[in-house]
Amino acid sequence: MAPGKKSHPYQKHTSKKRLPPETKTNTHQRFREFDLQGKVFVVTGGRRGLGLAMAEALVEEDAQIHCVDRLPEPDDEFRKAQKRANPAVGGSLHYRRIGVRDAENVAKTFGEIGELNKRFDGILCAAGVNHVDKAVEHTPKEVDEVMSINYTGVFICATEAAKQMMKYRCRGAILLVASMGGFIANKGMASPVYNSSKAAVIQLTRINEKGEGGIRVNCLCPGHIMTPMVQMVFDKEPETKELWQSENMMGRLANPEEFRGAALFLLSEASSFMTGASLVIDGGHTAW
Ligand SMILES: NC(=O)c1ccc[n+]([C@@H]2O[C@H](COP(=O)([O-])OP(=O)(O)OC[C@H]3O[C@@H](n4cnc5c(N)ncnc54)[C@H](O)[C@@H]3O)[C@@H](O)[C@H]2O)c1
Repeated sequence: MAPGKKSHPYQKHTSKKRLPPETKTNTHQRFREFDLQGKVFVVTGGRRGLGLAMAEALVEEDAQIHCVDRLPEPDDEFRKAQKRANPAVGGSLHYRRIGVRDAENVAKTFGEIGELNKRFDGILCAAGVNHVDKAVEHTPKEVDEVMSINYTGVFICATEAAKQMMKYRCRGAILLVASMGGFIANKGMASPVYNSSKAAVIQLTRINEKGEGGIRVNCLCPGHIMTPMVQMVFDKEPETKELWQSENMMGRLANPEEFRGAALFLLSEASSFMTGASLVIDGGHTAW
């Protein structure tokens, strides 16, 4: 600060050091800590569903988002979101094909994204699969498929992202998408392995390392959301829809867009004192 200038009360707060520069103070901008301008994030499982809805929220806060998913091309939904992104503001949405279990390719791709931008601010790990069946019907191969994507894949992507954040000295954030199924059994959905995989992700969030380097790790535990993954459950067992709607206090399923605020909060400086935590957003399902 220039000598003789009076300090703003906010400047005494240490988190001020982590806030974006005050370039927009004359535009009456409030809550600067949510600003993602110039920041670079990866969103796994971002070709559709929850991952894409949250990716779009980050783009709207001016972030550069690289969605990765296992399919060669993203959904039409993704292309529409890409058109809505406004390059004049600074946000952008990109797509790359990678499988989250392919450690070599994940490292290479994240390295390229870091190199291109000379920064890497975080990752949102939303890629996941479900397998609906009774425990006694699961084969070891099916168990391995779910665990290797929902847990090992998350581990690989989160740690490779952390390496990039450390390389470019970015005080970033990692957001892992777990589920309320990590805490409870999903009534009406036989998914013992899926639920265990999400419990493992919740525990991974509590990574036993000091966060002084600046990388925060949190997880999101949603209730039932109307996405293609859930539609597959309804296609198999249509009566599940009514049951799930009646099992939370809101009497309905969530829409993916209802998690936009959570993504922005958990990946921005707005959550600067939050790490190792699980944010449950489930319409009151687990409160009952
Ligand atoms: N829909 C819900 O009710 C709900 C509730 C709680 C948690 N979740 C979690 O939210 C996340 C997103 O789920 P969704 O409901 O949007 O499902 P979705 O099936 O629409 O999206 C999941 C995405 O992950 C991708 N993916 C799967 N395996 C992959 C791999 N090996 N490599 C790269 N990408 C891969 C899929 O292609 C898909 O695009 C998942 O982790 C899911 O477990 C969903």
